[in-house]
Amino acid sequence: MKKELGIIVSNDMVAVDTYKLVINASFSKDVKPGQFVNISIADKAHLLRRPISISEVNDNFITLYYKVIGFGTNKMTLLKQNETIEVIGPLGNGFPLVHKKEVLIVGGGIGIAPLLELAKKLSLDNTVTIILGYQNKNQIYLDKELSKYGELIITTDDGSKGFEGNPVTYLKKHNINFDVIYACGPLVMLKAIDKEYQKSKIGYLSFEARMGCGVGVCYGCAIKTTKGNIRVCHEGPVFELGVVNYEP
Ligand SMILES: Cc1cc2nc3c(=O)[nH]c(=O)nc-3n(C[C@H](O)[C@H](O)[C@H](O)COP(=O)(O)OP(=O)(O)OC[C@H]3O[C@@H](n4cnc5c(N)ncnc54)[C@H](O)[C@@H]3O)c2cc1C
Ligand code: FES
Repeated sequence: MKKELGIIVSNDMVAVDTYKLVINASFSKDVKPGQFVNISIADKAHLLRRPISISEVNDNFITLYYKVIGFGTNKMTLLKQNETIEVIGPLGNGFPLVHKKEVLIVGGGIGIAPLLELAKKLSLDNTVTIILGYQNKNQIYLDKELSKYGELIITTDDGSKGFEGNPVTYLKKHNINFDVIYACGPLVMLKAIDKEYQKSKIGYLSFEARMGCGVGVCYGCAIKTTKGNIRVCHEGPVFELGVVNYEP
């Protein structure tokens, strides 16, 4: 883990309220798929950093995709080429990689972001199917990039592109053969996948939590699991199927 001033290479809108941010960061070579960075938004009223997943790594560059939600992500849209930003990374555990398996990757909304580097790595020696869920066709991003690494299925809530519904309803209606499932997206999607497959499959789910320090010190991000309260930022954000306790 390193703290450094990353140089902004580009920061472009790629879908409604969704931006692609490329940063030159010296720790890029240490990144595992599913890890994240903490970004300083450098404001006295907003001291907390913002956790954002690392979507892809190329040479010295890390690529992030972020959805504009509130103060911090709005401020990030103003970042310009050659400006610097303080980043800490890589953080978290990342996805374990499997080999010579039939793999299903499921992403929903901005949770699709961490799946690109994962799909790239898994496609080297696995058969990969990818299901991506969006609200509507204007929210679609990363579909072309991900289609290079497996058979791609798109779902939209309103049916404006692909299957009308979400990845979970798609899986209920279609029989897809797989040994291992990887997923990131809304909690309701992760919960449904966990419930359906925890007894029959191997799988890894990436979770979000409101974070404080982001580096394992404050326990602000701890969630209930079968192993007790565990930090999403340190032992997570990726957990095996059947580990997270979804009750409040
Ligand atoms: C491990 C991890 C990886 C993430 N990866 C990405 C990513 O790749 N791309 C991306 O766009 N976002 C990602 N997020 C979520 C991102 O960190 C938040 O959207 C961001 O911090 C919001 O900051 P803000 O200042 O814009 O919003 P704020 O002004 O802080 O919040 C605005 C509103 O959003 C809610 N909110 C903010 N963050 C979260 C959160 N994490 N969970 C639930 N509600 C929240 C707040 O309660 C508030 O109502 C990730 C989060 C985690 C924990
Ligand atoms: S955010 Fe502080 S321990 Fe995870």
